[in-house]
Amino acid sequence: MTKVYQLFINGKWVDALSGKTFESINPGTGKVNAIVAEAGVEDVDLAVKTARQAFEKGHWAEMDPSERGRLLYKAALKMREKSDFLAEVESLDNGLPIKETKFIAMPATIDVLEFYAGLTNKVHGETLASPGNRLNYTLREPLGVIGAIVPWNFPLMLTMWKLAPALAAGNTLVIKPAEQTPVSILELVKIFKEVGLPDGVINVVPGFGHTAGDALVSHPGIDKIAFTGSTRTGQLIMQSASKNLKPVTLELGGKSPNIIFDDASLEDAVNMSAFGIYFAQGQVCAAGSRIFVQDSIYDQFMDLFVNKAQSIRVGNPLETTTQMGPQVSDKQLQQIEKYVSIGLKEGAKLVTGGERFTEAGDGYYFTPTVFENVTNDMTIAREEIFGPVASIIRFKDEADALEKANDTVYGLASGVWTNDLKRAHRMARGIKAGTVWVNSYSYLDSVAPFGGTKQSGFGRELGTQAMDMYTQTKHVWVDLNEKALNWYGG
Ligand code: NAI
Ligand code: MG
Repeated sequence: MTKVYQLFINGKWVDALSGKTFESINPGTGKVNAIVAEAGVEDVDLAVKTARQAFEKGHWAEMDPSERGRLLYKAALKMREKSDFLAEVESLDNGLPIKETKFIAMPATIDVLEFYAGLTNKVHGETLASPGNRLNYTLREPLGVIGAIVPWNFPLMLTMWKLAPALAAGNTLVIKPAEQTPVSILELVKIFKEVGLPDGVINVVPGFGHTAGDALVSHPGIDKIAFTGSTRTGQLIMQSASKNLKPVTLELGGKSPNIIFDDASLEDAVNMSAFGIYFAQGQVCAAGSRIFVQDSIYDQFMDLFVNKAQSIRVGNPLETTTQMGPQVSDKQLQQIEKYVSIGLKEGAKLVTGGERFTEAGDGYYFTPTVFENVTNDMTIAREEIFGPVASIIRFKDEADALEKANDTVYGLASGVWTNDLKRAHRMARGIKAGTVWVNSYSYLDSVAPFGGTKQSGFGRELGTQAMDMYTQTKHVWVDLNEKALNWYGG
């Protein structure tokens, strides 16, 4: 039987006021995975008002911070118990291989919640340097109601990146999942309800971007928007949020350079560069989609890399042996095909892949793809493809690598492969991106801030830095003079 989900508002499951629903598709089969209530403008309005009330009532923001932390830990513990179930729900809804949801995404997501659970009672202001006749201090206060707009590539993880620090700081939220993947987030909130999170603190309004999403962004009752998604939608969100000067943090697209020098351990570079582009079917904002290879090792690298790409087992995401699942939707599949044909037209050489993978059934499967003879001015080196397509680009030396790596409108992540310590750190300084991985790629850690520069967005998620994104500073000035100043005399 097809699962049915409602909206989650004020701790209750409710239909959309319009009665509308939409289908969430299992990309592994192309068939309906769940029927989900479709939030419209009026539902979003209700959810925002509920979240506002929950915030103003103070149950959450004014709760003993340690108590708040314990509640979040409880939720994390429940997530651990239900981790395999949530991994399966996620894989069914968005096509990530079960091996990746089970052993990478879920553990990482739970760790994020635990990390911020530990920070609830470590949010504090400062006492400022003041003369003896006054006291100046700051308070770190929650912002209020957060609107979180989440994409489909890692629904649970990217929700948690916003939810956990926002809750830890005492905010309430309205979450708008991506229309492709609402299910795991709706399962997640059940856990928070079970452990006793007060009603109205988390609300979830599945629906579409131009309706539910935009209603959230333009709602005067929202104090901040946290968004992960495309650069184009990021621009629209910033415009819309400007109407009532709502702060936004944007984690957007990328065309991240992964640079392999001839002194690197070749085997490691090949293995992790493949992971860097093919992990999650290449649907990763930080994907190492431009692989720069030094001339002197180019042929050697290509042999190994192409072999590796061809060895990747594409198939049903629920099979534990599957290494690459389907793309999230037919639309994404078509977009990838479009880029492959542009690549060919502009003169890049297709070495392997470049076509749909039909052996796994009716889902949206694509083959691991490698293009060589790519130059930095080609479309496939400039635009985010968001699929398993590696563009291999040659370089001569360090200066050449740095120039080419930075020749992009994006600046999210990057990788450098070298055993030369000095060069590694020179490159780390030189690359314009929010993350530099040295002799690794795609790793994330709850303690380490993640985010973009340039058109990859701004603001940071994860780390203690994310707490700054969900709090504001208030200054308190206390006069200690026995008598207040009488400026006008008399
Ligand atoms: P998108 O950026 O349009 O969707 C992401 C989220 O934004 C979804 O929840 C969507 O409903 C919402 N949204 C869309 N339009 C909105 C609006 N006007 N106001 C408020 N919310 C809105 O991404 P889409 O169309 O699903 O994918 C297109 C491309 O975006 C991908 O091919 C990829 O290049 C990029 N992308 C990047 C992601 C990242 O992790 N940085 C994640 C998803 C997509
Ligand atoms: Mg789906």
